[in-house]
Amino acid sequence: MDYIKYINDFRLQTNQSFVENIERFYQETETISTFYHGQMVAKEAVSLSKEYHEQLYQAGLLHDISAFIPKSERLLISEKLHIPVLKEEHQVPLLLHQKLSAYIAEKCFQIKDPIILNAIKCHTTLKKNFNNFDLIVFLADKIAWDQPGIPPYLEELNTALKVSYQEAALVYIDYLLSHNLLVAHPWLLAAKKQLTI
Ligand SMILES: [Fe+2]
Repeated sequence: MDYIKYINDFRLQTNQSFVENIERFYQETETISTFYHGQMVAKEAVSLSKEYHEQLYQAGLLHDISAFIPKSERLLISEKLHIPVLKEEHQVPLLLHQKLSAYIAEKCFQIKDPIILNAIKCHTTLKKNFNNFDLIVFLADKIAWDQPGIPPYLEELNTALKVSYQEAALVYIDYLLSHNLLVAHPWLLAAKKQLTI
């Protein structure tokens, strides 16, 4: 598949709802299971917040929209799309899916709202100066994770969630840092630093 051509050629269809267009994208790129994961994350994000429901739902559906680009292609595709790539993302191109998803959300789904795009862009690592919207999408993705079974950190994360989003994010980041992390992304470390102040 020519990934860049697919992205460039994709058009929203006016006879389809916004969600139907997103579902079609996942279908055409043979990643429908990621669409279902996106729906779970979208619902979780909405349930975690009293506001921003429409934007959170959109961010949830689109956060992994780049799943069809294989890990082995992510570096090359990012470079071709002029997406800035950090040293750690060179080492672990899997991490580029958050930036690629934000690119596709804007290019293919006409998302202009920076609050949505920024949250998609840091949904795996969080980042320095995150806001509540970023935190909610980040946490929803960890609660409604894309792997089978119950996340090992879920109980502790849910307990921390009763205190604050920040406490819950710290539980997950600490779990990650103590469990064979492939590479410590600088955005993750910057977020942790701010969470522990
Ligand atoms: Fe996800």
